[in-house]
Amino acid sequence: MTTNAGLQGVVVADSRLSLVDGQEGKLYYCGYPIQTLAEHALFEEVEFLLWHNRLPNQAELDLLTKQIAAEASLPAGIISLMKALPLDANPMAVLRTVVSALAHYDADSEDNTNKDLTLQKAIRLTGQVTTATAAWERIRVGQEPIAPNPDYNLAQNFVYMLDGNVPPEAAWKAINVYLVLLCEHGMNASTFAARVVTGTISDIHSAITAGIAALKGPAHGGANTEAMNQFLEIGEVENVEPWFNTNIKSGDKRIMGIGHRVYKALDPRAAILKERARELAEQSGNLKWFQIAEKLDQLARADAYFIDRNLYANVDYYSAIVLYTLGLKTDAFTPLFAMARIGGWSAHVIEQMGGRLIRPDVNYTGPLDLEWVEIANR
Ligand code: ACO
Repeated sequence: MTTNAGLQGVVVADSRLSLVDGQEGKLYYCGYPIQTLAEHALFEEVEFLLWHNRLPNQAELDLLTKQIAAEASLPAGIISLMKALPLDANPMAVLRTVVSALAHYDADSEDNTNKDLTLQKAIRLTGQVTTATAAWERIRVGQEPIAPNPDYNLAQNFVYMLDGNVPPEAAWKAINVYLVLLCEHGMNASTFAARVVTGTISDIHSAITAGIAALKGPAHGGANTEAMNQFLEIGEVENVEPWFNTNIKSGDKRIMGIGHRVYKALDPRAAILKERARELAEQSGNLKWFQIAEKLDQLARADAYFIDRNLYANVDYYSAIVLYTLGLKTDAFTPLFAMARIGGWSAHVIEQMGGRLIRPDVNYTGPLDLEWVEIANR
């Protein structure tokens, strides 16, 4: 028995959802290059693509957009639950609690075999996760949450629910591109967690809760928060090089937002997000954070350690600048990642339904045949 640390290179399922080409730095959802989808697609259009394996026509897209907005309201019990949580709770921990609790208000929550019902639950969860993310941003500063507007698409609704104003086009379109780019990504850790839960014939609320739990960690989705915290710690462009020499060259820290299990070339999403980050920073009149990120990236790309290990900026690196420039708090970044990945998680859940239990082996390394020692003698 050989141990494959981190399951690197292990293929656990066939999937029609996405291809991550780590050597070439390419990403496709159901055959469409990510650049094409980022340029043209509404987030709802991408969810339809993942759920139905084809793009929707206008009527189908309008219907899905309306359905998601109509299902996005949170039950009063969930709002009360959120208000009862400590105001300094981690927003990802709040979202994990909320998705688990939403099952109690969903009449179909215990169904775990019907794919049509699971798709309806995925539609509901898409809207509800967005509403919960925006609601927590208000509740934790003592404001009342704002109900979703049934006439808005998901990105518009998210921006609207933060402050109740008509969502500015530049802001909701930037959020839409972010959601499209982050929606799906092969057998990443959180998707694997969701598929493992589904493999036990459990329900989608349980699977998405597990996905959120896995996404929360800084080695995965939590890296967007940590990437921005690191740029804030650096503080000024002239501090980048001394910070790099002290913290990274010494081997004390990793650069958060750099490195990836699969990509050994530039993550194509990072390339798109870098340009979005630059545009948004220019429009905001504050280029400092973008410049800090770009300089640190350039130092890493010129460093033999990073070159030898093929370490490039990943999706969390420049998306941190995008989200910060849009005015989001750093610890709210990862829930936005979850808002996007709900599309991929739910499509994988549906794909996994009816599939075989996922149950790998472990290489036991402890002793055998130990003798029982009475408690008084231990
Ligand atoms: N900074 C410095 N060195 C790094 C970094 C980094 N960000 N990432 C990897 N390395 C080094 C490791 O120290 C290791 O060096 P070694 O071979 O001398 O031991 C080598 O590169 C390989 O790293 P592993 O940790 O073995 O790679 P793995 O595939 O297990 O981990 C991971 C990938 C977790 C993403 C890693 O690159 C990392 O910690 N990055 C920072 C956190 C981050 O940005 N996570 C988000 C990933 S993208 C996503 O999930 C959305």
